[in-house]
This record gives sequence, C-alpha cells and structure tokens, in this order.
Amino acid sequence: MISVNEDYLKLRGSYLFSEIGKRVNAYAAAHPEKSIIRLGIGDVTRPLPPVVIDALHKAVDEMANEDTFRGYAPDLGYEFLRSAIAEWDYKKRGCDISPDEIFVSDGAKSDSGNIQEIFGRGCKVAVCDPVYPVYVDTNVMSGRAGTYIEETGMWDNIIYMPCTKDNGFAPCLPKEVPDLIYLCFPNNPTGATITKSELQKWVDYANKNGSVILYDAAYEAYITEEDVPHSIYECEGARECAIELHSFSKNAGFTGLRLGYTVIPKSLVRDGVMLHSLWARRHGTKYNGAPYIVQRAGEAIYSEEGQAQIKETVDYYMRNARIILKGLHGAGYEVSGGVNAPYIWMKTPFKLKSWDYFDSLLSQANVVGTPGVGFGPSGEGYFRLTAFGKYENTVMAINRIRSI
Ligand code: MLT
Repeated sequence: MISVNEDYLKLRGSYLFSEIGKRVNAYAAAHPEKSIIRLGIGDVTRPLPPVVIDALHKAVDEMANEDTFRGYAPDLGYEFLRSAIAEWDYKKRGCDISPDEIFVSDGAKSDSGNIQEIFGRGCKVAVCDPVYPVYVDTNVMSGRAGTYIEETGMWDNIIYMPCTKDNGFAPCLPKEVPDLIYLCFPNNPTGATITKSELQKWVDYANKNGSVILYDAAYEAYITEEDVPHSIYECEGARECAIELHSFSKNAGFTGLRLGYTVIPKSLVRDGVMLHSLWARRHGTKYNGAPYIVQRAGEAIYSEEGQAQIKETVDYYMRNARIILKGLHGAGYEVSGGVNAPYIWMKTPFKLKSWDYFDSLLSQANVVGTPGVGFGPSGEGYFRLTAFGKYENTVMAINRIRSI
C-alpha cells in the first residue's frame, strides 16, 4: 500500500509566513474597512532597478530572435553571471572564489532548504534560536530532526544555539559538536551581526571539528558598519569548511523574479568527497537553471551603475529601519537590529507572548509583524518588524504602534 513520507507528517502546523498570511486574510475579510500595514514577511516593495529592467527587456528581445534564442541554461548557471559574481562579490573583497565554484539558482530559500540533501541523514545539525524556519523544517522533512518536544518547542536531535539579549543575539560556540552549523549574518530574524574576528572563531571551530558551516549571507547588502564581514570567505580557512548562500531578493528586489547563488569551494572535502561535486550532481539532476532573462537581469547589478541603483534601494529601506528603531525606542520599547539589517527585533510590551502581541497589534493598530516565537523558542516574547515596507506606511505603522 502506498505510504507518504512520514517525516513530513512531523512538521508543525503550516509554514510561519503562511500562518501569518492566513490570520491576516481572515482579519481583513472580517474588517474590510481597515487599512492593514504589512511589516511581517520580508518582501520588498521598491520596483526593480532601471538597469535590471533594461537587461530584462533586452534579454526578452534576444529570446524572440532565432540567432540569440537560448534554451536550457548550463548546469551551474551562465558564465557571464558567475564571472560577474566572482569579480564583484568576492575578488573585490579579497576573497578567493572562482566562477566555477558558484552555482546559480532560483534563490537562497530553495538552496538553504535543499543543501542539507548532500549530507548524511545521521548528521547532527545546529541552528541559532531564533532562526529562519526553512533550516529547521527542511531537516525535519529529511528525518534529521528527531522528535518534537512540545514543552520546550524544540526537536530533540537538533542543537539549538540560543541568541538572547545576554549574548547580543549572537550564538556561542556549541559544546556538543555539530556536523552542520547554520549561520545567517546579518541575521534574520534578529538583525544582529558578528565581527570578522568572531566569525573567524566559527571557521576555526568548524575546521578543528570537521563541521561544515552553511552561511546565509542574504542580507549582506545591508551592512553599514566596518568590521562586519560581507562574506565568510573573508575569514582564513573558510574555503575548507564553509558553503555560502546568496540572494538577489533583498539587495536587488528579485523576490518575484527569483535568483540566488551558492558557493561551494572545491577545497571543501568531507568524508573523502568534494562537496562541490555532490551539489553539482544534484543541480544537474534536479534543476534546469534560472531563466536566461533572469540571469541577464542579475548580471546587470554588477556594474558601477547597477551598484549605485541597488544602494539607493537599500538606503530607502534602511531609512525605514531608522524610523522604526528611533520611533519605537523613543516610545520606550526595547528594540535592536536595524543597523546592518532590514529587520528590527523588539521585545513585546507587558511581557505579552509573541502571538498574543501579533493579534493585539493587528486588531488595535492594524499592523502586521512576525511573532518571534515563530522563529524558535528563544523568540518567545519578541516580535520582528521588517523595513521593507513603503516609507509612508512605515511612518504610519510606527505612529499607530506608538499611539496604542
Ligand atoms: C522573511 O520574512 O524572513 C523572509 O522574507 C523569508 C524569505 O526570504 O524567504
């Protein structure tokens, strides 16, 4: 008799952002007269930069012409894009990454969810707590998480690294040595960062213990402070222990276009195998590549003009971040993040639980945020606001929160 993948049945409820969407839609249906401001999911609101639009038009025209039409993309992605990434995101930062160590994909969400497939089912995983839920859920789906413990809100086979006010929302090196360590800096959801010397300690730890770091750098464009690394490959020895994930969503507004990339250095070997060749095999077998027109659009941000245009967008969102930080801080809320990241992490008032605060903010201020506990047990009593909204809406949302 047919059976389903039992690991899927272990998943908790629905995906965090789907659950938020459901609650907000139900509220909106019951209160059609209310104007709801959504600062929940980190989805961008600015239009695509002009260089990207031009590149898209040009590539669409190429697809209409017999001589320039393209079919399947090369397995790793087009050379023009991988070379541009290697030059602008790595060489210019002094990192030694070659184009053939870069795998182009349809985004960091898919890659951060799929990358665990190349590791053994028995590998022990460590995540920050709170954490982007994709890392945990995909390890549940693949049977690596163990059993969910209701009382703690944790999976018994996952190592949770608490990120709390006491440690500045940056995890400590785990005592129990994990095989896979998920790190995301600047962090989603807390907006926290670590310095290059702190990241170096993780690289040294991974190399010493034979672990692999899965480093999500989706928010690196938001770094404003010196000494915060843009890439893990700025650290000595990272080529031997780290995989890095990047997105075009948050810097260039590709949430609807879909584009990202993953770097696996050829010098990263575990269990006698080059991880690069495993991911190449997976990519070749399960994926036919991001569309040509989207890869051309991605290439367009790697020019002086493209960089200036994405900086303008990032600056727009960071102005929102300052409005949120200053506005809430001034009203007596405990807030952090928002300096090197588009996320603001706030302590809920009156010690409210995260989902209770979500409901009360939705009904009293008609503002949507993300309950901290949705990212993990250490997020209980916290709430995340995104700076990706429209400026006017962000100002209005903060005024509404201040007035309740
Ligand atoms: C978030 O809100 O955490 C992000 O938008 C989710 C994502 O990038 O997939």
